[in-house]
Amino acid sequence: MSGQERITLAMTGASGAQYGLRLLDCLVREDREVHFLISKAAQLVMSTETDVVLPAKPQAIQAFLTEYTGAADGQIRVYGKEDWMSPVASGSGAPAAMVVVPCSTGTLSAIATGACNNLIERAADVTLKERRQLILVPREAPLSTIHLENMLKLSQMGAVILPAAPGFYHQPQTIDDLIDFVVARILNLLNIPQDMLPRWGEHHFGVDD
Ligand SMILES: Cc1cc2nc3c(=O)[nH]c(=O)nc-3n(C[C@H](O)[C@H](O)[C@H](O)COP(=O)(O)O)c2cc1C
Repeated sequence: MSGQERITLAMTGASGAQYGLRLLDCLVREDREVHFLISKAAQLVMSTETDVVLPAKPQAIQAFLTEYTGAADGQIRVYGKEDWMSPVASGSGAPAAMVVVPCSTGTLSAIATGACNNLIERAADVTLKERRQLILVPREAPLSTIHLENMLKLSQMGAVILPAAPGFYHQPQTIDDLIDFVVARILNLLNIPQDMLPRWGEHHFGVDD
């Protein structure tokens, strides 16, 4: 697959595992090759919020997610948190875009300071240094000055801050509708087709002409 068709998807331990799982599903259906990273905290959150309990080791997670999403063999590649030899650890091998969804305030802070203490932080650092697309989907409430400063800093560095804050103007009926609102926004930014949410102006949300 070409560089354009590869995406790094990282899940960290903020609430909202459903967003990451749904995005993974959409990327697989759109034939993207997904380089998948997940923190320990994200696995805990996932098992708290969903029925999905991932195995511990990257190889086993890869097999699990391949079956879970119906992906082709090799379409999802999972790397461990210290797999410094993986493609995402270097500018010469990393995909053109990276999404961190959900993004914890801890990982947000580490990316803002360039900590690179694990592969998620390093992959984000590489994405920034190579001036590629970095989309961060934080979830916290309320936001402290530290969180806001980190988001401002990252935005000024070129990252897109896309808060996990679904709108309601599409009249959501289910939790899936709320999840899709956020995931559709991510897909729009990645220029990947989606039919979950019309772009503004394509559809009048119950407003009379
Ligand atoms: C059930 C659960 C929900 C959490 N929700 C959030 C959250 O919404 N936002 C956040 O920033 N951290 C949240 N945390 C805390 C993070 O998981 C924690 O700070 C962790 O160190 C983040 O590590 P990571 O960035 O390596 O994933 C939550 C933790 C748990 C167990």
